[in-house]
Amino acid sequence: MNAFVPLETSIFAPDFTLDPYPWLEDLYYRDDVLGFSSEGMNFCFRYQDCRDLISAHKNVSREPPDTSDSDMAAFAEKYPARAWGFQYLLTDMKAKAILARFIQEMLNRISLEQFKSVFQSFEKPGVHSEYLRDLSHLPMKSIMQAWGFRYDDKLIDDHYEYSVALVKSFDNYGEDSLMAAGDAGMAENIRYCREQFNSAEPGTLLHDFAREIRASGIEDDYGVGCLVSLVQSTPNTLSISNTLMLRNMLRYRDKVSVLREDPSLVCADVITEFLRRDNHVKALARQVHDDFKLRGSALRRGDSLYIFYPGVNLDPTHWDNPLELSFDRQFTHDNHNIFGGSRYSCIGSRIALKYFSELVPLILEYLPVTAEVSSEDIRVEGDWITERVITNLPILVPEH
Ligand code: HEM
Repeated sequence: MNAFVPLETSIFAPDFTLDPYPWLEDLYYRDDVLGFSSEGMNFCFRYQDCRDLISAHKNVSREPPDTSDSDMAAFAEKYPARAWGFQYLLTDMKAKAILARFIQEMLNRISLEQFKSVFQSFEKPGVHSEYLRDLSHLPMKSIMQAWGFRYDDKLIDDHYEYSVALVKSFDNYGEDSLMAAGDAGMAENIRYCREQFNSAEPGTLLHDFAREIRASGIEDDYGVGCLVSLVQSTPNTLSISNTLMLRNMLRYRDKVSVLREDPSLVCADVITEFLRRDNHVKALARQVHDDFKLRGSALRRGDSLYIFYPGVNLDPTHWDNPLELSFDRQFTHDNHNIFGGSRYSCIGSRIALKYFSELVPLILEYLPVTAEVSSEDIRVEGDWITERVITNLPILVPEH
């Protein structure tokens, strides 16, 4: 594969994670460039290329690199939970559709009341860093409550750690210690979800979900796989996207002032615009299973590349003034890829829209207009690529 030019920084550099646009700005307009390379990996970053890759899922997919049966058996022996995941995590479209319906029902039942005290704490002058922990834990707690999972605070803490361990290992096949830690966390998650699936209390969503999976003739493990996806995806996705949203509320004060004046303007398009500007998803791998042409360049069977989602969401050939938060944008099902698409559509998009539609007005109510993000103190952890983990994003609230 050629036409991947070296990125002038590392894909892992915190500055690039937090503001990638300056490094990509000129590349968008170069006809000779298909993507960029960094740390030995190739990345596509344009809107149209992302659409082409996603819709070509018969040639280019997320499935692991082509491996012989014996390679796969060796992989499964070393990382049994991940191997189980390849088989059962959202691979059955009928089970995925049932999950989507139950997610909708969960959203009808969910209570986000617990978040209020987190944002109320912003009213106090000082430096706020502690909110990140609450934002990492409360989404899962509210989801587990609504489904009728049995849990306690320790379990929520543990599953947050499993989720982070999995994120660190995701698509980092060469990193043995990350892979082993991710696999161990996922094994616990599978064990827990299987137990919940098999012993759900009558009257809970969980119970109805298990019944419906079985009534549809779907093997139990595909149902368990749905729950595993939900439990492992919730903590990082919502907490990091929420943190980045807070940062942008304070960076783009003027734009956000219209929402402060009239919080009823907060709607799905507004939330989608916040997520377009920045969210937790960074790069997701694709494997080429059959020869395929992208932007005129040949991708060959066995090639591996990544979709760099922040590049896609900021592509100036698709978005006017891409760095600006603009609440006039109208999103339709086929003019953006913020939540992926086709076979890899996000199962959490409705959760995210519901959460943030409720949380943004609360944040606007309690976050003083004079608050600031202390940019030099933002910490982005580690060198894994799928999502980046923000471990510190202090908010400074001056004395009123
Ligand atoms: C916060 C905003 C969110 C954004 C911007 C987002 C974005 C995305 C994107 C771009 C993909 C496609 C991945 C690919 O190309 O391979 C995806 C897939 C996925 N998302 Fe989200 N997501 C969000 C929230 C969530 C939440 C809250 C959950 C929790 C349930 C979730 C669970 C998933 C799962 C399980 C997949 C994989 C779907 C599959 O493989 O079939 N996401 N998401």
